[in-house]
Amino acid sequence: MSTSAPQPSAAATGPTPPADATEAVVVRGVERVFTGAKGATVTALTGIELTVHDGEFVSLIGPSGCGKSTLLRLIADLDEPTAGDIRVFGRTARQARIDQAYGIAFQQAGLLPWRSVAANIELPLQLHGVGASARRARVAELVELVGLSDFAKHYPDQLSGGMQQRVAIARSLAESPRLLLMDEPFGALDEMTRERMQTELLRIRAETGAAVVFVTHSIPEAVYLSDRVVVMSPRPGRITDEIDVRLGEAAERGEDLREDTAFFEGVTAVREALHGPQASSAGAARGVDVR
Ligand SMILES: Nc1ncnc2c1ncn2[C@@H]1O[C@H](COP(=O)(O)OP(=O)(O)OP(=O)(O)O)[C@@H](O)[C@H]1O
Ligand SMILES: [Mg+2]
Repeated sequence: MSTSAPQPSAAATGPTPPADATEAVVVRGVERVFTGAKGATVTALTGIELTVHDGEFVSLIGPSGCGKSTLLRLIADLDEPTAGDIRVFGRTARQARIDQAYGIAFQQAGLLPWRSVAANIELPLQLHGVGASARRARVAELVELVGLSDFAKHYPDQLSGGMQQRVAIARSLAESPRLLLMDEPFGALDEMTRERMQTELLRIRAETGAAVVFVTHSIPEAVYLSDRVVVMSPRPGRITDEIDVRLGEAAERGEDLREDTAFFEGVTAVREALHGPQASSAGAARGVDVR
């Protein structure tokens, strides 16, 4: 385990500094306050500073309600911060969304039931006017990548949950994004399928070189997948710690890594960051899975 990577000293306002253009995500001084119907406010996020380097895999972990989904939605421009600045490859979050600079996969696969596997995967390409033959070629590559070549003509309700999730991941990769935003994409899967999907995600990421921002409740999942784990705490949601857990190149991380001392050290480090040293073997904060 090494020390945290150096953070660029980018200004939060004014034109984007050229140095930031090489970073996948730069979040500066971000706050998100929700105002309820009766004027009551919830500070979902405050003082968020986060840089995700190009090609880096960063997990966000923390108890339920600490603002993980909110942060991901802000990066994806599905919501707007009440203060601060977000850049995706040097562009505003809005511009990055317009440019389709990233792929998104959320907890529910979100497939269209009336479209086949192939038709679901090619949807983003179709929406952006990619021609039929180019679409067919790309879909063939993607179903191969996620191991579903034999299921291209199937419909979502003919697939298992894990297979549906793989379709969603293939769809998020359709436009070869350099950044993937994933919110508990494996949350609904059984443990064995989940581990298989984690290994598959590492392989896909090694092949594509994409940066990933990955929300999870599972400490082992965060440690297994990530280069860096960002720990958050609620009320108000903020980043309390960052832990480098780089266990080797994504392509070289096999199943045996889950039995490795370095893996257990990573799990302990993240657990202690979440709960303090005493809590490492005792109960967990609500909403965080320590298995
Ligand atoms: N649209 C909204 N309107 C009002 N409050 C919201 C809204 N979205 C989120 N919140 C509040 O912001 C806080 C953070 O929510 P968020 O969904 O980001 O948490 P989370 O860390 O993703 O939790 P979980 O692990 O349960 O998914 C919560 O207190 C939540 O109630
Ligand atoms: Mg959430």
